Amino acid sequence: MERCIGLDMGYGFIKIDDGREGHVFPSVVGEGESGMPMSLGIGQRTGSSELRISYNGKNYLLGDYAIRHSRLAHRGLSPTRAEGDDLKILFLGALSLYARETINNFYVVTGLPPGRMHMADDFVRQLRGDHEVVRHTGASRFGVSIRLERIEVVPQPVGSFWAEVLDDRGQIRGDHPLLSGRIGIIDIGFRTSDFATVIDGEYSPGFCKTVPLGISFGYEEIAQELSTHYGLEREQYTLDDAVIRGQVNVSGRPVDIVELRDRIFGDIATKLLVEARSMWQIQEYDHIIITGGGGRVLERYLRPELPQAQLAQDSVTANARGYYNWAYFNAQQQAADLGPSSGDADSYGAGSGSTAGYGGSTSSYSRGDTSRDEGGSRDFRASGEQ
Ligand SMILES: Nc1ncnc2c1ncn2[C@@H]1O[C@H](COP(=O)(O)OP(=O)(O)OP(=O)(O)O)[C@@H](O)[C@H]1O
Ligand SMILES: [Mg+2]
Repeated sequence: MERCIGLDMGYGFIKIDDGREGHVFPSVVGEGESGMPMSLGIGQRTGSSELRISYNGKNYLLGDYAIRHSRLAHRGLSPTRAEGDDLKILFLGALSLYARETINNFYVVTGLPPGRMHMADDFVRQLRGDHEVVRHTGASRFGVSIRLERIEVVPQPVGSFWAEVLDDRGQIRGDHPLLSGRIGIIDIGFRTSDFATVIDGEYSPGFCKTVPLGISFGYEEIAQELSTHYGLEREQYTLDDAVIRGQVNVSGRPVDIVELRDRIFGDIATKLLVEARSMWQIQEYDHIIITGGGGRVLERYLRPELPQAQLAQDSVTANARGYYNWAYFNAQQQAADLGPSSGDADSYGAGSGSTAGYGGSTSSYSRGDTSRDEGGSRDFRASGEQ
């Protein structure tokens, strides 16, 4: 039986969810030919913080593992992400976290930016079929076969819509205020931001676009300042943590970069508001969902200008969770169409519950773990009643 997976392949971070547990790790691929890093038994470990796979005879480190240990690591940032096999490696590497059988049949829902939906067919063609992956954990290695017969590509931000209106049992929340009216979604990512519109539950491409502006827009300036003031040369992919925490270590001492960071964030937010106003008649929108990892940090600059806006619940993972909800919704419909003898749709759900809380750039969470929710008013139901 195929298992439902929601997979959000951001330029900055991969987010993946199977309805029970989720993982977030940086979209960085590095060579893994120099041998396996050896744990000295001190650091905290989760599946996605030490992700190493072999595919087609080559070894790769992924995510934080690549940032820490690869002599050659990179984040593919070109608009089409056509550099080598990176996207495929990240896709399969993420799925390997859920491969518990020898043959794993996944039904994956994933997203592309609204402005890149023309690439969907090509993307599916590259990934459909069977893939043999070897996953390395500690000293052990195990081979898994990943079968991808069903891959569905949707416009990226609609995941955050589904995360709100569908529950994780694939049921529509019937009285949800986002089900009717004109809904805007602003998904602020690492390299791009997407604007999408849903009118009475239908995606409306005429009011959607992707702009090449995300949180990493400021990384170059931050890297420049660090180099000028502290002689610190940092690859941009190492800056996430510094930006999230607002400090960077120089010779073992923390240096505060909050002021610099906030100034840059303010500039990015202003540019995004200009984009929103140029495409949307803001007053016509009943609700606006601010989502994406960038949404979390820019929300406070945007909300004063967009009174109907709310930050999506757990905005970093909202798309991935919504894709899963959609996959599960479809699987249940299909099971219902085939009749009771086709088996319980429950078997589409998956996995064993797990793991650690949210923190740092790599993280795992289990669904229902409310500790990763960090305040802010996000209850659309409540806002609809105001
Ligand atoms: N825990 C966090 N706290 C604050 N900010 C975070 C956190 N995690 C991620 N971010 C910010 O969110 C940004 C990435 O957001 P997101 O994961 O939505 O991007 P993406 O989907 O990978 O990118 P894109 O949409 O351009 O493909 C990071 O650059 C980081 O600054
Ligand atoms: Mg994104």
